[in-house]
Amino acid sequence: MTRKKGDCGPKHQEHACAILQSRSLPDSSAIVRGMRVEIPAQLVERLAAAERVVALTGAGVSAESGVPTFREAQTGLWAQYRAEELATPEAFQRQPKLVWDWYEWRRTLVAKAAPNPGHFALSELEQLVPEFSLLTQNVDGLHQRAGSQRVIELHGSIFDTLCFDEGTQVLTWSDDGSVPPRCPRCAGWLRPGVVWFGEPLPEAALASASRAAAECQLLLSIGTSSLVHPAARLPYDAKAAGALIVEINPTETALSKHADYVLRGPAGEMLPQLLRLLRKAKAAR
Ligand code: OAD
Repeated sequence: MTRKKGDCGPKHQEHACAILQSRSLPDSSAIVRGMRVEIPAQLVERLAAAERVVALTGAGVSAESGVPTFREAQTGLWAQYRAEELATPEAFQRQPKLVWDWYEWRRTLVAKAAPNPGHFALSELEQLVPEFSLLTQNVDGLHQRAGSQRVIELHGSIFDTLCFDEGTQVLTWSDDGSVPPRCPRCAGWLRPGVVWFGEPLPEAALASASRAAAECQLLLSIGTSSLVHPAARLPYDAKAAGALIVEINPTETALSKHADYVLRGPAGEMLPQLLRLLRKAKAAR
């Protein structure tokens, strides 16, 4: 069996839709769930002037694509399933089939999902900012499918498969009915290529992310509860180094009170509006 990363779905339909909707709106505001949300002109100016920008994303950026978040009451995955039974190496050793099957279900779910206007806006932002780093805690590949070129995956990818014993990436294996499948090299179990609780983040990804956070002038924290470290630490590192911190999230998070600006709305609506204003500000410079 072979699994290719991001091997699915349509790409650009939702984006066209977001641009059309935004044309009729007045400057510097977005209509979000029937309410007008102002996007401060100073924020847009700072974004237009910034040479180095970081976006740190979490599950909320994929919520409008129909991918469940983790910690939201009722709909969050950790409200329905126990993380200790599904997302630790010990859980996998205890019940490898249960864990493999749960990730197979999630893989199928995200493979069927399509990127939303928030993902597309971030891929366009990459083109507009001289040095743009997209750091994601998401494992769903939706940023890449929206066209983002340089994505740092802090928690791995649900489309990657690793040998549990050797930690090496495995691209193909024989489908002999074993669940989980067996490593073609050592016959150990194969596991999903995601970071589980208690495991370190991929070293190179964390080093690049830490560098980008420490060097950026503006950091957007989008759709994350800002609770899971070390990713949650990155906005604080950026702030300590002088960056402007902007949160995009419909609800308050651990980071909110430390942010310079908070845009209280869904990423799929706020980001296209921010992008529209940024294009205008850049054109006027
Ligand atoms: P959480 O589920 O903890 O938080 C999701 C956030 O998204 C919440 O703050 C929501 O308010 C927000 N949200 C919901 N809908 C949104 C929308 N349309 N637009 C913007 N924001 C929205 O997810 P993460 O912070 O990503 O790790 O969780 C971090 C890590 O914990 C995950 O990567 C995963 C999990 O356990 C591992 O599996 C290792």
